[in-house]
Order: sequence, then structure tokens, then C-alpha cells
Amino acid sequence: MTIKVLIGSDVVVKRIEELAKEITAGGYHELTTITVLKGAQWFSEKLRKELKLSGVEVNDMPMRVSSYGKGTESSGKIKLIMEPMGSLGGKDLLVVEDIVDTGITMDFSLKYLQAKGPRSLGVCTLLNKPARRKIKVKIDYVGFEVPDKFLLGCGLDYQGKYRDLPYVGYVDEAHIDNEGGK
Ligand code: IMP
Ligand code: MG
Repeated sequence: MTIKVLIGSDVVVKRIEELAKEITAGGYHELTTITVLKGAQWFSEKLRKELKLSGVEVNDMPMRVSSYGKGTESSGKIKLIMEPMGSLGGKDLLVVEDIVDTGITMDFSLKYLQAKGPRSLGVCTLLNKPARRKIKVKIDYVGFEVPDKFLLGCGLDYQGKYRDLPYVGYVDEAHIDNEGGK
């Protein structure tokens, strides 16, 4: 499978530094990140490191949701696989995602988290793919707007692989096997 580079690793690193500065400018002293596993783990680790360097106290309370059944299309059915551990009430929460695509996962996550009574609830996504949006969701911080291609790297996987690639890449649609499972 040939992978083409969409966003190079230097550009990604620099943008994550900028995002941390934008978030820090929001005036947080203490921030609870909600890393949406597994995809956002790669991005979240780097973002939290930068936030800490900017003097923000960060505590990560990951959650895991699953929407994809098979292949590269969202099934539309979200399952909460792991709840954030501990109390979220009264906290400044920042949901950290790898990509917002249809918006179904983010919509589900935001409704779930809002019900926990946080002081504030923000959203930071490394990638935003607006072309395929099905549900409108508010996003406070976006790394990159991306075209309607199936992407990998920077936490994004294809069939469980390629998450660790330090750049955002894509494969030609013709090479994607939609029956393959994910
Ligand atoms: P949504 O619910 O359709 O917005 O999808 C959100 C999730 O689908 C993301 O957190 C990713 O894990 C996955 N996803 C969406 N687009 C891509 C892609 O292009 N490559 C890999 N995973 C994707
Ligand atoms: Mg994700």
C-alpha cells in the first residue's frame, strides 16, 4: 500500500505547539483533558506536553468510544467502552480528538460529558474533515482542515495500523478494502 504525505511531520509538530499556545491564551490554570481513545492518544500526549511547558496544569481523564464497525465508514452507532475515571463536575474539560469526521462521535461525547456538569467544555481536534459532517458540532481549536480522503498517521489508523506515523498520510481509495474490518 502506497502512502502519500498530506501534512509533513515538521508541520504537525509546529501546529501542535501553536495549538497549545492558543489554548493557554484561554487563561486556564488547571485543565482536564478528555482524550478520546485510541485515535487521539498520539496527539494528546504531544499537546499535553506543550501545555505543561506553557505552565498549564493538565490532568488527563481518557474515555473510549467506538463507532466504526467495518472498513472506513462510520457505522453511526456509538458505544461507550470506557468512561473517564473520576469526577468531572465543576472542572474545565477539553475533549481531545484526532479527527472530527461525521461529527457523530463528538456529538455523543459532548452530550455525555455535558451531563456530568463540568465548569466548561471545550473541543480540540488535530484534524477536521467538514465535507462529511452529519451532525454540527462546535470545535474550539482545530489543527488542520483536511479534504475528504481516508487518512492515517498521527494516531489515525487503518485496520489498527499506521497510528505511529509522525505525518498525516493518505491512500488512494482504490486501495482501501472496505470489508477488512477495523
Ligand atoms: P466521526 O464520528 O465520523 O466524526 O468519526 C470520528 C472517528 O472516526 C475519529 O475519532 C477517528 O477515529 C475515525 N476516523 C474518521 N476519519 C478517519 C480517517 O480518515 N482515518 C482514520 N480514522 C478516521
Ligand atoms: Mg478519534
